[in-house]
Amino acid sequence: MLFELVLAVTCLAWRVWSAPARLEERQAPDGVPDYVLKYAPIVYLHSADPYMPSDLQTHISHTTPRVNFNAVSAPNPLDLNSLNQLGSDVYLTSNDDVTKNPQWIKGVKPDANGKTNNAITAAVIVNDKGNGNVDAFYMYFYTYNWGGTVLGIPQLNFGNHVGDWEHNMIRFSNGQPQSVWYSQHANGQAFKYSVTQKQDSFRPIAYSSNGSHANYAIPGTHDHTIPNFNLPGGVLEDHTEKGILWDPLLAAYYYKYDAGANKFTPYDANTPVNWLSFGGRWGDQEYPTSDKRQVKLFGQAKYSSGPTGPADKQLNRNNVCPDNGKDCILRSILVPRRRDTDGVIFEGDEVQR
Ligand SMILES: *[C@@H]1O[C@H](CO)[C@@H](O)[C@H](O)[C@H]1NC(C)=O
Repeated sequence: MLFELVLAVTCLAWRVWSAPARLEERQAPDGVPDYVLKYAPIVYLHSADPYMPSDLQTHISHTTPRVNFNAVSAPNPLDLNSLNQLGSDVYLTSNDDVTKNPQWIKGVKPDANGKTNNAITAAVIVNDKGNGNVDAFYMYFYTYNWGGTVLGIPQLNFGNHVGDWEHNMIRFSNGQPQSVWYSQHANGQAFKYSVTQKQDSFRPIAYSSNGSHANYAIPGTHDHTIPNFNLPGGVLEDHTEKGILWDPLLAAYYYKYDAGANKFTPYDANTPVNWLSFGGRWGDQEYPTSDKRQVKLFGQAKYSSGPTGPADKQLNRNNVCPDNGKDCILRSILVPRRRDTDGVIFEGDEVQR
């Protein structure tokens, strides 16, 4: 009797102690591999960044589908379950003039635990390639991208756009993280998992740059390179710092991706999935120069077109880098992004071809 009582009390105490801890850890639905959560990146946003991670549905609700600036018929309601009914020529175009900085484009600042409250701001997509090879994509969404200024001159501000999808990808082998991809504008950087900075021992840190949200492995300044725009190094920079902690896992949707069938399956029956098949753009089309908001200098637009969504990020890539015709350098030391060292192979680096 006494033994049973002690056992019952012990069990109760165990449940009381362990329950909150488990709730904190397990925000994800059942079935998501534990290692995809354990080794998930943590993001540090820049403290000066006005444009925080943003709720997907809020974004959609403030836009109108347009093709060549003309509104097109849309499903009603237009939401994460119906977005795929729109054509791939559609631009989700802001209902407000974004140059006036409406509140909704500023997103949701994470709370002290790194959670964007009442805002789903990320998507985790798991591509299990078999034989223990798994690529996990951590997709980050921001409603607005501020492109930065050349030489810090406010008039030389390019590449602002509505909608901003960035990502990390972690390549796993038998549940062990091998390498991490950091998306940065049209390209990015790859590092061995072992050399990345960690939060809580396991989670690699990504530093999101002020305004443009390119992801870097270290804080500091990085050359912000623009394809076909040959600026000298140091002229247009991304700034990263250990600013505001964002744990994307705390407000994310989770999916499996079957590359053979090009099919997404949510881990949780309540998770909307159709939006991943929307092939259009998540923001306004580049304004013509006849639009008084637009400035075009050296072929660069102040306001460029919004991006396509997560399905367009090469979810079934061979190397840890997306295939873009450049060498995929898997770095063994943490280096900033610099135009003059971009293609340089350092000792210990591995080149994937
Ligand atoms: C950060 O971005 C904002 C606008 O998006 C800009 O006004 C500010 O100067 C930037 N600060 C730094 C340190 O880059």
